[in-house]
Amino acid sequence: MKGRYIAGIDIGSTKICLMVGRAGREGLDIVAAGTVPSQGLRKGVVIDIDETANSISMALREAQSASGMDIRSAYVGISGSHIKSTESYGATGIKEKEVRLADIERVTDAASAIYVPLDREVLHVLPSEFIIDGQDGIARPLGMAGVRLEVKVQVLTASHAVLENLERSLERAGLKAAEMVFQPLASALAVLKDEEFQQGAVLVDMGGGTTDAALFKGGTLRWADVIPVGGANTTNDIAVGLKLPQQEAERLKRRYGAGQEKVNLFETEESIEARSMSGKPKQISPPDLSRIIRMRMEELFELLKEDVEPQIIKHQPLCAVITGGGSQMREIAGMAEGWLGIPVRTGLPDRVHSTVLRETVRDPQYAAAAGLLLYGLEREGGDLIKENNPFSDSIETVKRAMTEQGRLLARRFFGRMRRFPAEDA
Ligand SMILES: Nc1ncnc2c1ncn2[C@@H]1O[C@H](COP(=O)(O)OP(=O)(O)OP(=O)(O)O)[C@@H](O)[C@H]1O
Ligand SMILES: [Mg+2]
Repeated sequence: MKGRYIAGIDIGSTKICLMVGRAGREGLDIVAAGTVPSQGLRKGVVIDIDETANSISMALREAQSASGMDIRSAYVGISGSHIKSTESYGATGIKEKEVRLADIERVTDAASAIYVPLDREVLHVLPSEFIIDGQDGIARPLGMAGVRLEVKVQVLTASHAVLENLERSLERAGLKAAEMVFQPLASALAVLKDEEFQQGAVLVDMGGGTTDAALFKGGTLRWADVIPVGGANTTNDIAVGLKLPQQEAERLKRRYGAGQEKVNLFETEESIEARSMSGKPKQISPPDLSRIIRMRMEELFELLKEDVEPQIIKHQPLCAVITGGGSQMREIAGMAEGWLGIPVRTGLPDRVHSTVLRETVRDPQYAAAAGLLLYGLEREGGDLIKENNPFSDSIETVKRAMTEQGRLLARRFFGRMRRFPAEDA
């Protein structure tokens, strides 16, 4: 088979999804996906290595048999409230009076030299802007003339133990991490439009275990935070409040849940029939169910607002884009709009397509997995600061195809990533 293959694995608290994509003239084509319910994770973090490894193995087997390929390594999404973002700054002299790759690396290294406690690690260093001889707002400094180069960056750090446990789970399943990628970065790549990246957008990935918020502007990440509340909390509230099994609570949530009061989904139903703990039928009152869902959603949006509002005031984004499985709840965009005070739309992974899986991938719960592939494509194909790329021919073809479709990603978005020893060797 011709083309370049890339694998990405989204290890979520609800499901694990391993996707395989092929980069070709038409952009990125998803050729296979293995999705299984996830075990061993809580709020985006591994709490049981064996269970996590087992779930990863199942997703891997599914993706391997669907693609007929032997998958050894993948881009891995990582989330959890242990991830923190900090701003930093670096400066250096420009050696040859013209910015070279080495200057960019040096200045980024200088900016990355922040105090990182022993139990934490740098996950990404994302340049937000370069300054040459006092001239700010420079996106691509390579080849520009000057004597002094400065950079402003966002440094994302993560708990060492959490990364380590994730890595061990992957290893046990026989999969190598090409890179670990902050999940909302990946989701953003799959769902944000170019103008949103440039002029500003808040990405909200509503997962099962966490709700991840990230603000992008000028083609790069400006701020991010992870709220340890997600769809699983709503399901749990329903299960506890109405004394139902988790599975049944989940079903009722998906079937009847809605974000806004004005949508009365119960007009035709006096009561909802559910299966009780003992397996017997049980009548549920629609207002009771609705109240439980709404209370949890309000709590979530209150936390989100508290977190995001100062960033909205500071960066004035065009809109917010909600994605992830939780964004599938009815009328949730309207509810989010009410809380955040800016337009909100639901983000589908539109930057990829699939000849075999067709519409299945156009689902917000696959945003992170699809984004990991785009991330990998951009990292391997069009490395932003590689002067002599040995693969440039094939990359040019892919890039041209992507540009034609308006799909070329904001190059500046990528920083220098956490590389694993295995890769460096
Ligand atoms: N139609 C729906 N209505 C309401 N909630 C839904 C719907 N479909 C899925 N969800 C919820 O979305 C959540 C799962 O989303 P997703 O698959 O993005 O999570 P995840 O990536 O596994 O978790 P995380 O990112 O938090 O680690 C679950 O809590 C699920 O109940
Ligand atoms: Mg997720």
